[in-house]
Amino acid sequence: MVIITKIPQLIAYVAEQKEQGHSIGLVPTMGALHAGHMSLVERAVKESDTVIASVFVNPTQFNNPNDLATYPRTEEEDCRLLAGAGVSAVFMPEVCEMYPDGAHQEKEFDLGEAAEVMEGKFRPGHFQGVAQIVSRLFELCRPDRAYFGEKDFQQIAVIRNMVRSEGIKVEIIACPIKRADDGLALSSRNALLTPEQRAVAPSIYKALKEGVEYSRTHGVRETHHHIVEAINAVPELETEYLEIVDGRTLLPVEEWEESPDVVGCITVYCGRVRLIDNIRFR
Ligand code: PAJ
Repeated sequence: MVIITKIPQLIAYVAEQKEQGHSIGLVPTMGALHAGHMSLVERAVKESDTVIASVFVNPTQFNNPNDLATYPRTEEEDCRLLAGAGVSAVFMPEVCEMYPDGAHQEKEFDLGEAAEVMEGKFRPGHFQGVAQIVSRLFELCRPDRAYFGEKDFQQIAVIRNMVRSEGIKVEIIACPIKRADDGLALSSRNALLTPEQRAVAPSIYKALKEGVEYSRTHGVRETHHHIVEAINAVPELETEYLEIVDGRTLLPVEEWEESPDVVGCITVYCGRVRLIDNIRFR
């Protein structure tokens, strides 16, 4: 596996792969890799001749400076995992390599209505930052396919909109959520939980799962209330939002019958750590 830190080196590497007729799979990450990330990598390795993984904690998508400062970083271990999984190249640039003029937003992307709700509302600027870095990675790596996890359900919808509005030719592949044995969705931020917080965090998925059962005999609003009550009753857990939405548009539904694809997207503070998860209702 080659480790690439500079943009010209990446461009040359990609050109070389293209010349050899290799298909390219891209797995963008912010590092602190876990089995969730690795499930994307494994799928990419199966489906593409050359797999490029990126490890870059992108400052423009963090709206909270403390969140950026405390974001876990484990570059050496990340490289070990990626090499072991058969990744061809890892791109690990410094911030100044990606943002030579400083880390700020240069243009506004058309990300559609899906970017205005949920994370778009609670983390202003977040998706513009994601679109900025992901579109740049697409431009540099020219992937045939790019892999994203359904753990960040809204991110996939927003990236699909970005690809459409920017006219980028790439297939976006959505991969299922990987969970710990106790149901907690794997996340780099789980490393920031105290043992006590880690012990209660699985209550989020438990409440979502029970919510799906409850939804068979109750309406959307009642189910929403039921899940939020169950989570907020647990010490250390505080729901920021739960939105029950159409899985394609991400706009809220009021009746189960409104859409064949209904997803509940949730954000919960566990102490000061912000955890996200989602579940399919229909
Ligand atoms: P990061 O949070 O590191 O996640 C990288 C990719 O791994 C994302 O597509 C995410 O959805 C996926 N992922 C994370 N946890 C997962 C899990 N438990 N199961 C399945 N997939 C999981 O998302 C980002 O980074 C950034 O926003 C990025 C797209 C890299 C742009 O900076």
